[in-house]
Amino acid sequence: MMRVIVTNSYDEMSTEAAKIVAGQIYLKPDSVLGLATGSTPLSMYKKLIAVHEMIGLDFSQVTTFNLDEYIGMAPDNPQSYHYFMHHNFFDFINIKPENIYIPDGMAKDIVAEGKRYDALIEAKGGIDLQILGIGQNAHIGFNEPDIKFEATTHKVRLDEETIQANSRFFQTEEEVPRYAISMGIKTIMLAKKVVLLANGRNKAEAIYNTVCGSISPSAPASILQLHRDATVIVDKEAASLL
Ligand code: GLP
Repeated sequence: MMRVIVTNSYDEMSTEAAKIVAGQIYLKPDSVLGLATGSTPLSMYKKLIAVHEMIGLDFSQVTTFNLDEYIGMAPDNPQSYHYFMHHNFFDFINIKPENIYIPDGMAKDIVAEGKRYDALIEAKGGIDLQILGIGQNAHIGFNEPDIKFEATTHKVRLDEETIQANSRFFQTEEEVPRYAISMGIKTIMLAKKVVLLANGRNKAEAIYNTVCGSISPSAPASILQLHRDATVIVDKEAASLL
């Protein structure tokens, strides 16, 4: 069953998401969180940092697994998702460095890295709460349309639309990596709870296909209709086609 929460603004969407994450950690201090990059969850991270600073939300026993990383991108490269997570979140909370997991885009053997990553998630007892953004083509993580629903962490080729959308973070479109390592749909579906966030008019079609469309690999996020505990939190613009 999919729950849809329509909020008035990006700020309200972020507050609702931060409350769910904070509530999860409050009830289970050793929670395993699945985390996403992108502009969408940025404000949620800021709000969680504020809750940590103001009322001491404790991340010392929390473990995190990020969804994805560009292939060939070193962790200290400012465009990498490693860098993004540290500079927008991890550096400001009391999470232990050894409890932070992000796929290694520099791994020589990406297949082995995918297997290692999935085994680590399993060894930690699975993901309690997975945060997701969504691409304009309804991709989640980097699971582009026509992905296999049974995929676990694996190498993916980015769609032209995604390369174009992500080029805003690079000087030129040529610099956007063409490949990434991403948790698969199966990895995401195995999370006990999923919260997907979207804001802005450019996500409206993806949200419509996710919530109202038929379950199809052409809109990867539509599989979440089969998830046991999925919540979609959107602002008015992203909800405009619902
Ligand atoms: C990237 C990431 C996704 C993210 C998507 C949307 O492709 N791999 O995890 O959800 O972009 O990003 P944004 O939130 O910036 O719109």
